[in-house]
Amino acid sequence: MAAKSTSILRRALLYVPSSSPKFLAKSLGLTADNVTYDLEDSVTPNKKADARAALRDHLVGLSSRPKSISELAVRINAFSTPYAMEDLAALAPSPHLDAIVIPKVTSAEDLTLATDALRRFAADRHAKGGPEGANPVKLIALIESAQAIMNLREICAASPYLSGLIFAAEDFALDLSITRTPSLSEFLYARSAIVTAARAANLPSTIDLVCTSYKGDDGIRQLEEECLGGKAMGFNGKQCIHPSQVDVAQRLFAPGEKEVEWAVRVVIADGKAAAAGRGAWTLDGTMIDAPVAGKAKAVVQKAENCDMDVASLREKWKGQEPE
Ligand code: COA
Ligand code: MG
Repeated sequence: MAAKSTSILRRALLYVPSSSPKFLAKSLGLTADNVTYDLEDSVTPNKKADARAALRDHLVGLSSRPKSISELAVRINAFSTPYAMEDLAALAPSPHLDAIVIPKVTSAEDLTLATDALRRFAADRHAKGGPEGANPVKLIALIESAQAIMNLREICAASPYLSGLIFAAEDFALDLSITRTPSLSEFLYARSAIVTAARAANLPSTIDLVCTSYKGDDGIRQLEEECLGGKAMGFNGKQCIHPSQVDVAQRLFAPGEKEVEWAVRVVIADGKAAAAGRGAWTLDGTMIDAPVAGKAKAVVQKAENCDMDVASLREKWKGQEPE
């Protein structure tokens, strides 16, 4: 069974190139659900060893995880390269490491290799059949090829530490010789397959493609559109490449204010309807029944996880009755 938690928030996953001392230092002052230090594509082959050593020193030098960052991750190199095992040997034992992002996962084999490496290089956190609450390093798999899409079911079941999937559009487009368009319709099947497979395997997070245009109003507009589109498809977060993208992604992947208000009203009225033995009832002229009430409860839970002020809304709407 995969790592389960409904409370993991990865609305934004910000890549920080590990080859840049400036970016490493800057990252500690940022506020983000997830910061992922990159050793893969933002680092050239001649800089791999230096970047790995600099990142290890950076993590070892932290007295704790910065409070404004919920999750610290490292993107290692792919297992098809000579670097992956060295990355894991150097970084898996890092004290404040929460997750490893594995690029170019194509089959269950990649996750088996990563799982074995965690048990070897961070044995204290990954004892087989170890105690509950041992705080294992989680794994997040990048899905970026046709082969990976075909193997999603086995990938999702391959490791007890697997905690999410990420869709990588640029490598996927390269693999299939397709050209990215603003509508993203060319990725519809792959993105939908990813969110469906992750949900079926009870993985808590699915993270959508990078918005590569990040500059100016046009960049922000494009990012907003992509976030809303991804959320509507079932993704719960977005990869970011620039700090300016993080706030936008975190705002749009949290429930909207109107949505939370509606959900609070449904939850309050549903409790009263249930007490009166009514399974289906009406709010604002629209029928509410079990799946709708279930959705409302999930929205309220998510809003609480996102630190939204749900208590005030409960107070405001405590008199809500089912119509
Ligand atoms: N992580 C941490 N800090 C970052 C950052 C990142 N990914 N991107 C930018 N910054 C910092 C800059 O250092 C700068 O800090 P300062 O104001 O203290 O000088 C500030 O944010 C503004 O940056 P800006 O000047 O607008 O961008 P840039 O020209 O320095 O960098 C990129 C632009 C695209 C090169 C850079 O954002 C980047 O490398 N992103 C990550 C790319 C990556 O990881 N790709 C692989 C995964 S898809
Ligand atoms: Mg890639």
